[in-house]
Amino acid sequence: MSKLHAVITGVGGYVPNYRLTNEEISTYVDTSDEWITKRIGIKERRILKPEEGIGITYLAEKALDNFKLKHTFNPLEIEAVIFATSTPDYILPNSASLIASKTGMTNAFGIDVNAACSGFLYGLEVAESFIASGKYKKIMVFAGDVLSCVTDITDRNTYPIFADGCGCAILEPTTEDVGFIDSILRSEGNVEHLHMYGGGSVNPASHESVDERLHFIKQDGKIVFKHAVSSMADTCDELIKKNNLSKEEVTWVVPHQANLRIIDAVANRLGIPIDKVMINIEKYGNTSAGTIPLCLWDWEDKLRKGDNIILTAFGAGFTWGATYIKWGYNPK
Ligand code: UT7
Repeated sequence: MSKLHAVITGVGGYVPNYRLTNEEISTYVDTSDEWITKRIGIKERRILKPEEGIGITYLAEKALDNFKLKHTFNPLEIEAVIFATSTPDYILPNSASLIASKTGMTNAFGIDVNAACSGFLYGLEVAESFIASGKYKKIMVFAGDVLSCVTDITDRNTYPIFADGCGCAILEPTTEDVGFIDSILRSEGNVEHLHMYGGGSVNPASHESVDERLHFIKQDGKIVFKHAVSSMADTCDELIKKNNLSKEEVTWVVPHQANLRIIDAVANRLGIPIDKVMINIEKYGNTSAGTIPLCLWDWEDKLRKGDNIILTAFGAGFTWGATYIKWGYNPK
């Protein structure tokens, strides 16, 4: 491949220290460790304890610290920061600008991307386009959420699933046969089955919106489950065929971590053995935009230059898609 395109040249990640176990959750809502383990596949998730002034950019800063443990980093070289999140520090200013200032990326402009659990794929797409244009040479993509701040402790449909975490990836140009190869991204406006109605321009924050618990995510789990399986499996299948890849040539599938049964069903439909699927839901839960970069961070030492990797996600919007990358480097 001689066309200019983007390649990931490093990843980082961070999850908060506090481990919220299924046992602790069972003291708040009518559920059990057995049910959550069997039906969702989560044993524990990490939660940012509500402390003043700490939100998603705190997790991003820590993710960047972990990135720097393995990769050289000059903040002044970064030209753009893309932050995929649905739980920014504030409605405004955006979180990309805040993390850029906090970490010395003062030559960069920053934009937030809101695509819920598909945020990392959407963020990569933007970064790839910027780099392929020839105008930008170093872009930092952050993706993550602090879902604990929008999860209702009285709702057993959501409370056991959602968690906090953030990952990051740096993208640079290449003309080698590695990096971003292709993607299929989709969205469909659906405010019915997965939403948070409060806090936007339709239902600004008010005493009533708080009383009605509109500032929490609500979902129709069964419907979201079915859409997630078919949407991720179909886009992966289309992408694999479009790029003439055989199932055997796929080194890794990296799915959004929402429910182990969703991940199993997607792998089954694709005919990809489960040992080629990255899974860390049991320890981190569903960190929304954070799940895919957190997997890449966890698996970084096992990845080899040239590995064929299919990333796939589904989330509120609905938003979904699949992205095909060839890994760009060997472990350091
Ligand atoms: O990140 C993207 C967005 N989110 C997702 O992708 C999540 C998609 N959905 C899911 O993961 C699942 O639908 C849930 C985990 C939310 C729910 O699992 P489910 O297997 O679809 O449960 P269900 O709603 O069909 O309920 C089955 C049973 C019911 O009891 P009965 O009627 O069979 O007696 C529920 O009342 O399980 C009961 N139940 C629970 N029991 C203990 C539902 N939630 C719980 C719970 N603990 N937390």
